[in-house]
Amino acid sequence: MTALTLSTAAAPGLRADAIVIGVAKGANGPSVAPGAEAVDKAYDGRLAGVLETLGASGAEGEVTKLPAPSGFKAPVVVAVGLGAEPEKDSGFDAETLRRAAGAAARALAGAKKAAFALPLTEAADAGVVAEGVLLGAYSFDAYKESAKEAKAAKGNGKAPLAEAALLGGKPRDKAYKAAIERAAAVAEELNRARDLVNTPPNDLNPEAFAAVAQAAAKEHGIKVQVLDEKALTKGGYGGILGVGAGSASGPRLVKLSYTSPRAKKSLAFVGKGITYDSGGISLKPAGHNETMKCDMAGAAAVFAAVVAAARLGLEVNVTGWLALAENMPSGSATRPGDVLRMYSGKTVEVLNTDAEGRLVLADALWAASLEKPDAIIDVATLTGAMMVALGSRTYGIMANDDAFRSAVHEAAEESGEPAWPMPMPEHLRKGMDSPTADIANIGERMGGGLVAGLFLREFVGEGITWAHLDIAGPAFNEGGPFGYTPKGGTGTAVRTLVRVAELAAAGELG
Ligand code: BES
Ligand code: MN
Ligand code: ZN
Repeated sequence: MTALTLSTAAAPGLRADAIVIGVAKGANGPSVAPGAEAVDKAYDGRLAGVLETLGASGAEGEVTKLPAPSGFKAPVVVAVGLGAEPEKDSGFDAETLRRAAGAAARALAGAKKAAFALPLTEAADAGVVAEGVLLGAYSFDAYKESAKEAKAAKGNGKAPLAEAALLGGKPRDKAYKAAIERAAAVAEELNRARDLVNTPPNDLNPEAFAAVAQAAAKEHGIKVQVLDEKALTKGGYGGILGVGAGSASGPRLVKLSYTSPRAKKSLAFVGKGITYDSGGISLKPAGHNETMKCDMAGAAAVFAAVVAAARLGLEVNVTGWLALAENMPSGSATRPGDVLRMYSGKTVEVLNTDAEGRLVLADALWAASLEKPDAIIDVATLTGAMMVALGSRTYGIMANDDAFRSAVHEAAEESGEPAWPMPMPEHLRKGMDSPTADIANIGERMGGGLVAGLFLREFVGEGITWAHLDIAGPAFNEGGPFGYTPKGGTGTAVRTLVRVAELAAAGELG
């Protein structure tokens, strides 16, 4: 990952491949953002005009490269758009800075070192710029032999930016240092979640995912327990077993327990970990399964958040539950019409094997409930319907408690993760009535995301506060990269979960 430092160096004398500055959209053309005064001065105060001549407007995400002024050690200035100038007396908002830093870091792939002269007014700004840089510099080329050859031949190729110095940061200031350290821990784990999502399903099956979790847990002093098929059978986890039944790679339930001696609250995070979703016997048609390696993004987010909480030493107990299975059709697969006896004791008639996420989550939610945490949050690429409702960049939040749903939503906003509250209409429950079992795994087609949430609610222990994040839209970016979001796995929900854990540690989660 990109190495980050806070620097008090002045831009002209700095040895780097590029200096990044911010440019905003002013009333009369582009305006140079605070932090770049020394650069502007070296252009005799005419930098805004130069940028305008080059076609820059200051629009968000716009990247303009220009030769550095004479006397500068760095050869290039990279001007990144920040969008509209903020109101008088207020700075650029956190997400604007994060995205700009990310866009610049992406544009600097192949460079060794860059200095970021973006507007930093307080320690939190350094934290979000650091996050943007570390997340924007991400690339996944573990499987690109051609990229590896290019790198070997040219020395570097388009490798992620290796080093970033944040100018105007205060390296001796505790708050600045803490902000950078937090950003590094969160971004590094988030990038690991992206790696897991991007890893092809022939290499990342439930057993392999469990092994990755085990290794990380050991490294960070997290207690880990893995239930394999034998243990799941003995324990009666009919949901996870039913979904995994068709695959040659057996299912797993991984429990990660991070405990702090000073914890006053306990949280449980539950992740959907379908390492590949073919749909099972209710097979998905071609065109709907090419990206289904991303169906473990919830489990990856939960895993990353627990490790980040441990690395940050948050004073809260966090248990992560990864419900891992591969949904495949075969002679041993669950059929539409089968009835599963779930871990909670309820029976479920499986009418569509493609509604598998709710089945593995049901068992994990019940397992989490038995420990009576103060709150449970599950994260899942659960329904195409939620994608239809909210688009590909916003996840849906449902909950059995309005205040908790709002708290999670606020945590998402503070983290730069677009999310929106969704209702749980009671009338949709009866659509899941089954003539044979306690409940069916599908209901009305309309409001399919809400139906899925109502199904999950049945497996949350009595009196436990719970929220459900349906990340089917934003978990996997099928379009081009933007801001600090790459193509492919995005790491959505990691930052929300970490923020919720921080709030719980601070006693601010209600
Ligand atoms: N993993 C899918 C949901 C999904 C779709 C995630 C697109 C990411 C992108 C889930 O298991 C699924 O297949 N859901 C079905 C449920 C239906 C059968 C009730 C769906 O949404 O069509
Ligand atoms: Mn499915
Ligand atoms: Zn699925």
